[in-house]
Amino acid sequence: MGNKNIKQDSQTDNTTWVDAVLRAPYSILTMTKDITQYIAELSAELEEHLYRYHILADPSISDQGFDRLLAKLQALEEAHPNLKRPDSPTQRVGGAPTNEFPTVRHARPMLSLDNSYSREDLEDFDRRVSQGLPDEQFDYVFELKIDGVALSLTYEDSLLVRAVTRGDGVQGDEVTANARTIRTIPLRLHQPGINCEIRGEVYMENQSFAKLNAQREADGEPFFANPRNSTAGSLKLQNPTLVAARDLRYFAYWMHQEDTNHTRHCECLEAMRDWGLAVNPATKCCTSLTEIFTLYDHYATTRAELPYQIDGVVIKVNRLDQQQRLGNTAKSPRSAMAYKFAAYQALTQLLDIHLQVGRTGAVTPVAILEPVLLAGSTIARASLHNEDEIRRKDIRIGDTVLLEKGGDVIPKIVEVDHHKRPQGTAEYQFPNVCPSCEGPLTRDEEEVKIRCENPSCPALLRRRLEHFASRTAMDIEGLGPAVVEQLVDKGLVRDLGDLYDLDLAGLSGLERMGEKSAENLLAGLARSKQQGFDRVLFALGIRHVGATVARTLSRAFGTLDALREASLEALEETPEIGPTIAASLHANLAAPDLQSVLDKLKYAGLQFAMEEEEIAEMASYFSGKTVVITGTLAAYGRDEAASIVERLGGKTTSSISKKTDLLIAGEKAGSKLNKAQDLGVEVLDEAGFATRIKEAGAD
Ligand code: IVH
Repeated sequence: MGNKNIKQDSQTDNTTWVDAVLRAPYSILTMTKDITQYIAELSAELEEHLYRYHILADPSISDQGFDRLLAKLQALEEAHPNLKRPDSPTQRVGGAPTNEFPTVRHARPMLSLDNSYSREDLEDFDRRVSQGLPDEQFDYVFELKIDGVALSLTYEDSLLVRAVTRGDGVQGDEVTANARTIRTIPLRLHQPGINCEIRGEVYMENQSFAKLNAQREADGEPFFANPRNSTAGSLKLQNPTLVAARDLRYFAYWMHQEDTNHTRHCECLEAMRDWGLAVNPATKCCTSLTEIFTLYDHYATTRAELPYQIDGVVIKVNRLDQQQRLGNTAKSPRSAMAYKFAAYQALTQLLDIHLQVGRTGAVTPVAILEPVLLAGSTIARASLHNEDEIRRKDIRIGDTVLLEKGGDVIPKIVEVDHHKRPQGTAEYQFPNVCPSCEGPLTRDEEEVKIRCENPSCPALLRRRLEHFASRTAMDIEGLGPAVVEQLVDKGLVRDLGDLYDLDLAGLSGLERMGEKSAENLLAGLARSKQQGFDRVLFALGIRHVGATVARTLSRAFGTLDALREASLEALEETPEIGPTIAASLHANLAAPDLQSVLDKLKYAGLQFAMEEEEIAEMASYFSGKTVVITGTLAAYGRDEAASIVERLGGKTTSSISKKTDLLIAGEKAGSKLNKAQDLGVEVLDEAGFATRIKEAGAD
C-alpha cells in the first residue's frame, strides 16, 4: 500500500476495543468466544482498510499500521487454526501451492463481445437493437474495455466461494486461491445474504507491469510483452504467494443475481459498488450514439494517461429486460458491442538494419529508423525478431514502414508501404558472419535463432562482461558499458577470467579513467570476490541459467565441482530444473573455454562453494530469527525440531523474551504461549512449522 492521504495512524487514533483486549492480560483472550470475536473484528477491520485504500482511494491507516494488524491476525490464526475464517484477509498473502486447477463449468456461458473498429458498425449495431426492440425507448451504458483477463466470481451468502477463468466460455479453470490475493476482490460482500455471480476483468497497472519486467530482466527471465500477458501468466501461477506479489487488480462489469430487484445494468454496477467491488469510474449512462462517439474520442486520445491499458470501449443496452429480449448469438450478446481503438501507428523510414549480439551469442536484427513520435515516445529502433520475419514481410533498407505500438512494450513493424519503395532496393541478405568478430554464424533450426558461437567474439564478450558486472550478478561498481568496451577493444580483457588480473598500470591507459576511478574499479572487483556462489553461477551468463535457477542449483549442489561432476540425469532430477536448463548447463560446464575461465576465476578467489549454513539461510523462513520451541510436537522431537530450525538459519533459545522472533507451539503449549502472545511474538503451530520447513526444501 502507498502512503497517500493518510488521515490518521493506527498506532494512535484508530485503535479499537480489540487492541485494548489484546494488550490486556492473556486470560481474557483464553475464552474462545472472545478470540473468535476478536478475529472477526480484526478481519473486518483489515478488509475495511483494503477497501478504503483500493476502492475509495481514501486510506485511514499507514502501510506499517496495516502490516501490524495483519501480522496480529496471522499470529492468532496460527495459534488457533480452527478459528481461521473463510474470508480471512490473511489469504491475501497467498497460501499452499496447488498442482493443477480444477476445471469448472460456468453456470451461464461466458460469452465474448462482438467488436469493431468503425463508427458504421456501431451505427449498424444501434439499428439492429432498435429493430429488435420495436417501438421501445432504450438507452446505453458506456464502459471502458479493460485489456486484461475475464474472471467470474461466485458469492454464496456474500462469501467468495469460487473464481473461474473464462476458459473456452463453457468451462474454465478454478483459480480461487489466486483470486483471493487480489486486493480489489472482496472476500465477503459488504451486504449480507447475497448470492450472485460477478464477472469482470483482472488487470495489471502499467507501473506494476514495468516493475515486474524490470525484476524479470534482473533475474534473467524473459519479458512479458504487455500487461495482459503478465496478468494471464500471473493468474495461472500455481503458487498463490507468488500471485500475491504480482499486484493484480479487478474491475467488475457484469453480475447475475437470482430474484434481483434491479431492472437496469447501471443499477447492477451501482449495487456491485455498494457491495465493495471496484467498478470502473468512467462508466456512464448514454442516451445517444453521438454521446458515445464523443466519449470514445475522448478516451482514444487520452488513454495513455490512464494507469492501466484499455483497448476500446463497450456499450451495453441498459435495461435488463431488453437485454433479455435481444438475446444472444452463438458467441455474443446482441445487446452489447465493443468499439475498439486502433493501435498507435506511424509511418517512418527504415534507415538500416543492425545486428545485435546478445550475451548468449544470439544475433538479432534491429531496425534503425528515422525517429518518429509514437504513443508519446520517440522511436528510433525496433526489433525485427529474426530473418524469417524480415523475409516474410519483405522488409528492405530504404523502405517506408508502418510502425505499431499496441499494449506491447516494444513497437513492431507491421508492414512495408510498397508504393513508397524507392528504386534500386535489394532484398535483405542476412549476413553469414558475425558483425563483430566476423566468425561464422550458426542457425538453430528449432528456435529460428542465429548465433555467433565464437567464445572470444568481442560483442559477445562485451555483453557477457556487462552482465557479469551487473547489479544482480557480481555488482561491480565502475564497470559499466563504456569501460567494458574499452577493456575489450584494447585487448586488456579477453574473457571473464582476465577481469581480476587488471591493475592500475593497465587501467591508466583507458580514456576518461583517472587514478581515482581506476582505484574504485579495482576495489569493486576485490569486493565482488565475496559474492556468494549463486551469484557467481548466475554471472557466468550460461544460457537458461537466470538468477533464480542459479540459486536453486547452488542450494542443490553446494559447489561448482559437484555441479561439474553431475550427470545430465542428476541435473534434470533437481526440482525446478527442466531438461533445457540441464542440457545447457551440462554442455557449457564441459566446454573447454568455460573451463579455463572458471580456473582463472577460482584462482582469483571467487566463491565456488556455498557453506552449508549459507544454503540453510537462503530463503528460509527461520533465517536470522531467534526461535523458542514449546509444547509437544507430534512429528518431531524437541531436539530434532531445534536442529531443523538451526539448519535453516535460525537460533533457538529456551525462554521467551522481547528478543524472541518466533514461538513454535505444539500441543499443551502453556505459559510460553501466553507470554508470547502478551509480547506480540509471532506464533507458529505444528502445521505452520511443517509448511515452513517444506518451503525451505528441507523436509
Ligand atoms: S462485458 C458477454 N464489459 O472484453 C461478454 N467485457 O470479448 C460480457 N472486457 O471477455 C463482457 N472490459 O474479458 C465487458 N467493460 C467490459 C469489459 C469487458 C473488458 C473483456 C472481457 C470480455 C472481452 C470481450
